[in-house]
Amino acid sequence: MLAEKIRDAKSVVIFTGAGMSTESGLPDFRSSHGVWQNVNPSEVATIEALNNNVTQFFEFYRTRVLGVREYQPNQGHYILAKWANEGLVSTIITQNVDGFHTAAGAPEVLELHGTLRTVHCQTCGKKYSNVMYEKQTYYCQCGGTLRPSVVLFGEFLDEHVMFKATVKSEKSTIFIVLGSSLTVSPANYFPELAKQHGAYLVIVNAEPTPLDAIADEVIQHERIGAFLTRMDEEITQLRKQR
Ligand code: APR
Repeated sequence: MLAEKIRDAKSVVIFTGAGMSTESGLPDFRSSHGVWQNVNPSEVATIEALNNNVTQFFEFYRTRVLGVREYQPNQGHYILAKWANEGLVSTIITQNVDGFHTAAGAPEVLELHGTLRTVHCQTCGKKYSNVMYEKQTYYCQCGGTLRPSVVLFGEFLDEHVMFKATVKSEKSTIFIVLGSSLTVSPANYFPELAKQHGAYLVIVNAEPTPLDAIADEVIQHERIGAFLTRMDEEITQLRKQR
């Protein structure tokens, strides 16, 4: 029983993708209603786009900033934050840039792809609130271009975040993927790394993923919010029995 495994595990690592936030109202990227169904990522989410297609870059990221400012964490984010604060979860590794895990109160969130919560100047590095994009203010006081603090396609991920995510994945005894197609590297390396180091790998995702074959459990029929609510209820029951 998975709830029992989670309750008794030495180190549970949660790994989330855009599917974690669809129940908050934010679209994911690759399912039938995903962001990339209408926009070509290479035209808006790359350094080339920032340098050569800046109007479309600004418009795309302004829409995404408005989304994360309008929508809120969902019940699943709050359950994960509770588990993390209780010590049931060792860390949350996320590909998401919406900041919802932190907003829900999670103590440690490893944001592999950065965050839409802030923008920073390409020239001087000065950081601003993402409200600048809401106000369509796209340039720094120094004259430099402001860009969201996300990792654009083709850019390197933060090495400190990568190092911490590697250590946590290697040490995990249960590694639970929530809402990711596991098609983007190097993020999709972590579930595999955890499995190689002996973790019990669980993938909760509405569609098949390339790592389903190596997973110990694949849950496709249950949406993430319902899965987390059920797990939380089962763990609470198990604790009463002790
Ligand atoms: N419950 C379960 N699964 C869900 C739910 C839900 N409520 N909502 C969506 N999903 C599943 C979708 O079926 C899809 O397979 O979540 C998965 C999300 O996959 P992607 O849209 O590919 O998102 P993600 O894996 O996070 O993308 C990784 O790609 O574009 C880049 O930087 C971006 O971080 C992103 C990265």
